[in-house]
Amino acid sequence: MFHVLIPDNVHQKAIDLLEASEGISVSAPGGIERETLLHSVADAHALIIRSGVTADAELFSRAPQLKAIARAGVGVDNVDLAAASARGIVVMNTPGGNTISTAEHTFGLMMALSRHIPQGHQSLAEGRWDRKAFTGVELKGKTLGIIGLGRIGQAIAARAHAFEMSTIAHDPYLPPAVAEAINVPLLDLDEVYARADYLTLHALVTAETRGMINADTIAAMKDGVRIINAARGALIHSGQLAAALKSGKVAGAALDVYEQEPPPSDHPLIGLPNVVHTPHLAASTSDAQITVAVEAAQLVVDYLLEGKAANVCNPAEISR
Ligand code: MLT
Repeated sequence: MFHVLIPDNVHQKAIDLLEASEGISVSAPGGIERETLLHSVADAHALIIRSGVTADAELFSRAPQLKAIARAGVGVDNVDLAAASARGIVVMNTPGGNTISTAEHTFGLMMALSRHIPQGHQSLAEGRWDRKAFTGVELKGKTLGIIGLGRIGQAIAARAHAFEMSTIAHDPYLPPAVAEAINVPLLDLDEVYARADYLTLHALVTAETRGMINADTIAAMKDGVRIINAARGALIHSGQLAAALKSGKVAGAALDVYEQEPPPSDHPLIGLPNVVHTPHLAASTSDAQITVAVEAAQLVVDYLLEGKAANVCNPAEISR
């Protein structure tokens, strides 16, 4: 009998799928504290997690039976992949399941930023009728720079074309033919910075991309650029972006992600008048959460019962 622990809140359909699988037992306490998790993981053969759980060497040391982690989502920055590999734990994700939700939220942020929708809402809710303060800009005819033209970046490009925007992108990993086929020229990063009216980030956090939006790169951008980040907070140097927002060099920013989540109350970007922010909601639709949860559950079933691994994120030595 294999035991699957789900310490994050995932959709009930994942639990149903696991419960219907012979040879698998499941406990899904959801949203548990770290200390409880460190005890509960003792008899787990697999974990299904979202971004709320940190799966690190300490956790693995308490989980002698652990063979697999399935991430119901894309990012595995909350998993210590090297430590998992060292223990022979396979880490798998569900990269396609929340693409559309994330692209739609990114686009929603871009529109909210352009038309001051949250600020206008708040102003009216507070009893004012202030039309002059919230004059916006159109997306049509503007150039959208997409940093990272993977699944999400491509879905955003399609939506931008429907809005009659020009699109350019930087992605060192994508074959140029793929970008050509969807009419998005791949350019050097400097050229994207120099030409973009809007810049949207869809890159992983690596040694090269951490803090890539900083005082130096902002200086290379157009005056009045607008920046959207629904990828990971660590891509942006928050203090330096805040300074550029205050000076007007950057006209606005829309953020769904933060270096630390939840962000501290004195976060330099939170509460600025030209910043729109949401609490990491891009993938939080019922549609995406069902898809990623069911996919993650199926990954775990296939691995535990049949030894089949898919969407592997770490070069694990698999020793079942
Ligand atoms: C992801 O990496 O899948 C998204 O950021 C959503 C999440 O972390 O829950």
